[in-house]
Amino acid sequence: MTARVLDGVAIANAIRLDVAVEAAALLTRGIIPGLAVVIVGDDPASQVYVASKGKACLEAGMHSETIRFAGTTTEAELLAVVDRLNADPRIHGFLVQLPLPKHISSEQVLLRIDPNKDVDGFHPMNVGRVAVGDQTAFRPATPFGIQQMLIKSGIDTRGMHAVIVGRSNIVGKPIASLLVQDTPGGNCTVTICHSRSRDLPSLTRQADLLVVAIGKPEFVTAEMVKPGAVVVDVGINRVPDPAAARGYRIVGDVAYAAVAEVASAITPVPGGVGKMTIAMLLMNTVQAARQQAAG
Ligand code: GUN
Repeated sequence: MTARVLDGVAIANAIRLDVAVEAAALLTRGIIPGLAVVIVGDDPASQVYVASKGKACLEAGMHSETIRFAGTTTEAELLAVVDRLNADPRIHGFLVQLPLPKHISSEQVLLRIDPNKDVDGFHPMNVGRVAVGDQTAFRPATPFGIQQMLIKSGIDTRGMHAVIVGRSNIVGKPIASLLVQDTPGGNCTVTICHSRSRDLPSLTRQADLLVVAIGKPEFVTAEMVKPGAVVVDVGINRVPDPAAARGYRIVGDVAYAAVAEVASAITPVPGGVGKMTIAMLLMNTVQAARQQAAG
């Protein structure tokens, strides 16, 4: 079998067009949806993500601000900027790029964000609201993007056994929360695996839908995948490659070529889930602007 490739670029571009139409509709009411991104330190991958978020915002006709701090910034300075963004009427949504330097508590920072502006959906209030199935809560962009990708690709998840590899608060736990709901793109039986799971291949081989988000290059091999499974690769890993102009290439958490021979559908890296994340962040920001306009 050769898997169908789920094209994140095409689906994300279609969503970004929808977002631009919604932003234009809000503009007729004098509202320009505004997103701010706060970044601390100079992690190269984070810098790339943040630049892409800003560019995508402007392309959708939205207001964008990027606030950069040195890695030596204190927690108090960061919390002061969160307070300022919470109060800024031009900013409908904002996020603090993770990971943060070790001397700053990401829990304290996330708790300080106004849940109504928490377009990342990382504040415990939104985590809880998503878990109870509240459709007005902000869904974290990557899991939301995965679910939209499945829906728009015509993959019916009802009754599937979804096995998630990785238990992060950014992807693993929230995608479980979405896939288990009684909604389109949900109704799965969900298993979350992690580094302490016993006999991981026996678990992944049970998956009708396998979502891999552990940040280990090409970790999932063909032997770990059930024939006909749908495979979603969330990994974005740089591996050294002397033949590449930049000296590295990007690979996912799934050994793509071999797994594509076993799976029925697969997301590529790059060009898969990564593109969806930004589209859903814009979607959440428009949702925030709409909800704030409604009071
Ligand atoms: N780091 C990796 N992914 C994300 C994300 O979606 N949001 C934030 N804030 N940080 C991240």
